[in-house]
Amino acid sequence: MDRTKWTRKDLLGLEDLSADELVAILDTAESLKEVSTRSIKKVPALRGKVVVNLFFEPSTRTRVSFELAAQRMSADVVQMASTGSSTQKGETLQDTARNIEAMGVDIVVIRHSEAGAPHMLAKILEPSIVNAGDGRHEHPTQGLLDIFTIREHKKRFAGLKVAIVGDISHSRVARSNIWGLTKLGAEVTVVGPSTLIPSHIEKMGAKVFYSLDDVIGEFDVINMLRIQLERQKTKLFPSIREYSRLFGLNAERLKKAKKDVLIMHPGPINRGVELAADVADGPHSVILNQVTNGLAVRMAVLYLVSGAKGGIDQK
Ligand code: CP
Repeated sequence: MDRTKWTRKDLLGLEDLSADELVAILDTAESLKEVSTRSIKKVPALRGKVVVNLFFEPSTRTRVSFELAAQRMSADVVQMASTGSSTQKGETLQDTARNIEAMGVDIVVIRHSEAGAPHMLAKILEPSIVNAGDGRHEHPTQGLLDIFTIREHKKRFAGLKVAIVGDISHSRVARSNIWGLTKLGAEVTVVGPSTLIPSHIEKMGAKVFYSLDDVIGEFDVINMLRIQLERQKTKLFPSIREYSRLFGLNAERLKKAKKDVLIMHPGPINRGVELAADVADGPHSVILNQVTNGLAVRMAVLYLVSGAKGGIDQK
């Protein structure tokens, strides 16, 4: 499928997408990545379009990357956070969104702590809705940039063994990666303490292991997740030190991994907890490549959902 056949108004999650649609986004991102290496880092593809970034949760990578992506595609872009907005005076999300729509916006990018918030907006608003992370449900552009980075380095998905390690229960990143990677033919295994692995995860197509040391040598890619203490309502492991001892990736444990293993992390990293600094910054790490690729992926997503008919270099 080429990008001219993309028909969706919104990007809400990877669960809904076909393998062809995933490849269409990855291929579009690949052609857009080069724009960020030009001396003038801009193409006119979205000139005249308006993008609003509604971030109701903290973010560094996703927020900056969506803003830069919109700018590089020549869209007008407005940032809105809950702090300083009328949501602090009690305005509902629906009312906020309808008021933004009334100002002639084309694309709303939303991050929200409630799973399903982007889906609710997609039902009631005409502008395209892009999910930038909804609760613990999905983070589709993070999944896509992870998958793009894996394709760039490994050149294949069929038979590729990917481990996602850590706090699977609270992770929207894990869910988007599992949906996307399994559709493309990769074999996904989740690894972590049983208290951080939800029982339904095998139904999504992932294998489950509770000991990293037993299986670490099998994987082509290891995606280390952040321990999300802010989402944990009860104590799910004895201590951070214990978690790090059993599931943290340090130079000693990395010796048991494949020689060409890729180490990934969506950020922000708890250094010394899930990843030792020398692994995070070491030769296997592609963590900053993920961030670079996130910009190209978000340019591609904005371009595709906008329904722009011209090529990338023409309006
Ligand atoms: N990976 C990720 O979503 O990072 P931010 O929370 O900084 O956007």
